[in-house]
Amino acid sequence: MAIDLGTANTLVYVNGKGVVLNEPSVVAVANVNGKVSVLAVGAEAKRMLGRTPDYIRAIRPLRDGVIADFNIAQEMIKYFIKHVHNRSIFMSPRIVICVPYGATAVERKAIEEAAEVAGGREVFLIEEPMAAAIGAGLPIAEPRGSIVVDIGGGTTEVAVVSLGGIVLASSLRVGGDRMDDEIVSYVRQNFNLLIGEATAENIKKEIGSAVCTHDSNNIKMQIRGRSLVDGNPLNVEISQKQVSEALMSSVSEIARGVKDAIEQVPPELVADIIDAGIVLTGGGALLSNLTDVISNITGVQAKVADNPLNCVVLGTGASLTAFKKFGSVLKKAS
Ligand SMILES: Nc1ncnc2c1ncn2[C@@H]1O[C@H](COP(=O)(O)OP(=O)(O)OP(=O)(O)O)[C@@H](O)[C@H]1O
Ligand SMILES: [Mg+2]
Repeated sequence: MAIDLGTANTLVYVNGKGVVLNEPSVVAVANVNGKVSVLAVGAEAKRMLGRTPDYIRAIRPLRDGVIADFNIAQEMIKYFIKHVHNRSIFMSPRIVICVPYGATAVERKAIEEAAEVAGGREVFLIEEPMAAAIGAGLPIAEPRGSIVVDIGGGTTEVAVVSLGGIVLASSLRVGGDRMDDEIVSYVRQNFNLLIGEATAENIKKEIGSAVCTHDSNNIKMQIRGRSLVDGNPLNVEISQKQVSEALMSSVSEIARGVKDAIEQVPPELVADIIDAGIVLTGGGALLSNLTDVISNITGVQAKVADNPLNCVVLGTGASLTAFKKFGSVLKKAS
C-alpha cells in the first residue's frame, strides 16, 4: 500500500489494484463540552469547510506543507488506511508513505506511528520529490540529472535527482492554496465581494491562467458571494485576465524558485537538465500556461507530466513494488 499524504489531497495506491482512494485531506471534528470527536474525513469533511456551526470544525491537518495538527493528522491517516484495508483485515500491509522534503524527524516519526497504529506491518517513508520523479517516469537511477517540480496545495518542491538520490532540493511555501487566497483577496479588493476558498479554487480550475493571453479578456465566469457594501448575495463576472493578475505573485514566486534552484545545480547536471527539460507534477501543474512562464523565466523547456495529480502516489507505489530497483530511496523514520 502506498500513500501520498498531501496537504490538499490524500491518495492511496494498492499493488495490483491501482489508486483506490483519492480524498481531500480534511477532517471534521466536533467539540462538545471539551470532548473532541471525529465526525467526517475526506470529501464529506471538505464540504463542511467554511459551513460549520460553532461546535464543529473542518480542519486541514497538513496546511502549508507541514503537519499543523498532529493528532488530527494521525486520525486521518488511520482512517484512510482502515478504510482501504477493511476488506482484508487479517493481513497487515507493508506501507510506504511519502513525506515532504524537509519534514522534521518528529513529523516523520508521527506519520510512521500513525501507519503502524493503523495496522502497517512494515512502514517505510519516501521523500515526496523522489516519489514525484519516479511517478513522472524520470530516469532517477541513471547518472543523469533530472529536475522535477511538484506543485501541491501547500508547497512547491523543486528537486534535482541523479543516481537514485536527491542532489538538491528546495521547498517553497507557495502552491495552490496561496493561489486560492490571492483570488479571494483580489475579488474582495476589486469587486467588494466576499467569496470562500472553495469558490476561489473553482475559479482557478475553470478559468485560471498563469499569464494573460490574447483570449483572456473573453474568457469569463460568473461568481457568487456576499457584497461587502450591503451584505447581500451578489453575482459578478470575472475574466481570465483578472484571474491571471490575481495569480501573478504566486506564479512568479514559483518560477523564480525554479530558476534559483537551477542556478545551484552542478555544471555537469545543468547540461542534462537543459536536454531533458523541467517536468511539472502536482495539481498546480494543471494551471493553464504555467509551463510557458516557467520556460520563459528559467530558459529551460518545461512540460507537465502525464497524470500530474497521481505522480507522487504512483511513484510511491512503484518504489514498493520494484523494491530491488528503488529500495535505496526508502527510509525508516528512525
Ligand atoms: N486544473 C487545475 N488548475 C490549477 N490548479 C489545480 C487544478 N487542479 C487542481 N489544482 C490544485 O492543485 C492543488 C492540489 O494538488 P495536489 O493534490 O498535488 O496537492 P497535495 O499533494 O495535496 O499538496 P502537497 O504536495 O503540497 O502536500 C490544489 O491547490 C488544487 O486547487
Ligand atoms: Mg503532493
